[in-house]
Amino acid sequence: MANEIRLDNRVAIITGAGAGLGRSHALAMAARGAKVVVNDLGGRMDGTGAARSAADGVVDEIRAAGGEAVANYDSVATPEGGRAIVQAAVDAFGTVDIVVNNAGIILYKRFMDHTPEDFASNLAVHLSGSFYVSQAAFPIMKEKRYGRLVFTSSSGGLRGGADVVAYGAAKAGVMGLAFVMALTGAPYNIFSNVILPNAYTRMTEGVVAERNMEKLSPGFISPIVVYLSSERCTLNHEMFACGAGTVARTIIALAQGWRAESKAELTPEAIHDHLAEIMDMTNYANPQNSEEETRLVAGRRRK
Ligand code: NAI
Repeated sequence: MANEIRLDNRVAIITGAGAGLGRSHALAMAARGAKVVVNDLGGRMDGTGAARSAADGVVDEIRAAGGEAVANYDSVATPEGGRAIVQAAVDAFGTVDIVVNNAGIILYKRFMDHTPEDFASNLAVHLSGSFYVSQAAFPIMKEKRYGRLVFTSSSGGLRGGADVVAYGAAKAGVMGLAFVMALTGAPYNIFSNVILPNAYTRMTEGVVAERNMEKLSPGFISPIVVYLSSERCTLNHEMFACGAGTVARTIIALAQGWRAESKAELTPEAIHDHLAEIMDMTNYANPQNSEEETRLVAGRRRK
């Protein structure tokens, strides 16, 4: 294919790559020439249990197709695990160029049924896990002035979802982490972007109708992950909703709003009276960092 996007000589860590989306990303990246660390502890959907066969199976698939891969079974959810995953890439392939933070667990439980342990375990895998692996990889990327990080968030975090309480909170945190990494990495050609997938995997088989299995195949998510992981892609600090063939930028928009002329004018009643202006999304902004947001909110009024 002319103009093909290749990942030759790039080393990619894909966490949670023993099943579902991660497996699909790993196969897609290896097919484009990347050397892949297939990380997966092989647990159940709620985070319990462990089985090496998950990662091993995907490594076998990649090798059978002529690609290069090694398995790693560490949990992303501890600092030692994060470091060991990156070390596995260095030991096998000498470096790391790409991190796809994909490992995940989920609990479908009503808000009042969530225990502190439920909450903590979701934060540990999604949010702390993304931090531990990315932080361990960052110095290597910084040194060579190159890196691509893909973070896996969810509409459950961006917009809320029924009964995904801890999960949604953790996934919202993942976006914040990705934005900070985008700002931190930009001077070093290290770019961080977020995907919000919609796919039929074991994680969604209870909530997505089986007839949509093909339409929502993980294979519809991996192309945007490959693109965001490639040298050709210079996007940073972006989010993409994807699934069933759709790839769509999504942003956290800031309205123009209404500004009171004085403290005396800014009463709860005045807010009620100006709701139309406060809620109006015409001429929205998409601030790229907190300073920009402060400037837009508190600085000179926008036209
Ligand atoms: P999955 O359950 O098929 O795959 C998740 C994988 O992560 C499993 O193989 C599991 O063993 C692994 N894993 C779990 N905890 C781990 C840990 N501590 N360390 C290393 N590996 C670990 O689910 P799926 O759907 O493929 O999910 C992949 C990612 O996409 C997750 O982060 C999920 O939250 C996210 N996502 C999925 C959506 C979907 O529609 N399937 C929607 C939005 C987000």
